[in-house]
Amino acid sequence: MSLSREDRFKELGLWPVWRQREAPGQPGSKQEAGQTANELAGMGLDALREAVRSCTRCELYKTRKQGVFGVGDANADWLIVGEAPGADEDRQGEPFVGQAGKLLDAMLAAIGLQRGRNVYIANVLKSRPPGNRDPRPDEVAACLPYLERQIELIRPKLIVALGRFAAQSLLLTDTPISRLRGKLHEYHGVPLVVTYHPAYLLRNQADKARAWEDLLLAVATMRGLQAGDKG
Ligand code: URA
Repeated sequence: MSLSREDRFKELGLWPVWRQREAPGQPGSKQEAGQTANELAGMGLDALREAVRSCTRCELYKTRKQGVFGVGDANADWLIVGEAPGADEDRQGEPFVGQAGKLLDAMLAAIGLQRGRNVYIANVLKSRPPGNRDPRPDEVAACLPYLERQIELIRPKLIVALGRFAAQSLLLTDTPISRLRGKLHEYHGVPLVVTYHPAYLLRNQADKARAWEDLLLAVATMRGLQAGDKG
């Protein structure tokens, strides 16, 4: 007997999935981003990378050293989404290469994963906000179509959103991270797990245990999906 995806998640105690809600008019909504999404729709990853490199859709291009597109296996099952490049990433052109990146690599290793091997890492914003300030809603709205197209092209089995900005941008919600983590969500049919950002975990060690629970949820979800592939 072959079980549906919903049945498999129920068996694992992971149902109900939280679905992305549509929020017309909200920054980053499909409506607002529609024009860019149309421009990007025909692009492959290389063309998209080039579009990010020369992007001037928000003011951040004036202060960044370079656009930071993403790194990893273009056919990865796992997609890890962070917030925005910091100073190290801006300099090196790769996401999560600073202190937070070291912790992310350790988190991935703890669940048997390695950067670049069946894992793709990207950010919501491709350009560094000066002084590492929080991304602004207009910047998220301008940049999100790049990530949306990356997701369409990579077609991950599972997305892990690191921190409030990644989670809220992908799920179009303003629900706090404390209520988003620990549950299974869905982004356009792709299961999505929310956990704390590694930079936050560096400052709040006590929440590492919760992050570990989230990673275990992600692993259990991936196992359910892979079992479904075989069945
Ligand atoms: N924090 C992020 O969210 N992304 C990076 O690439 C680096 C730090």
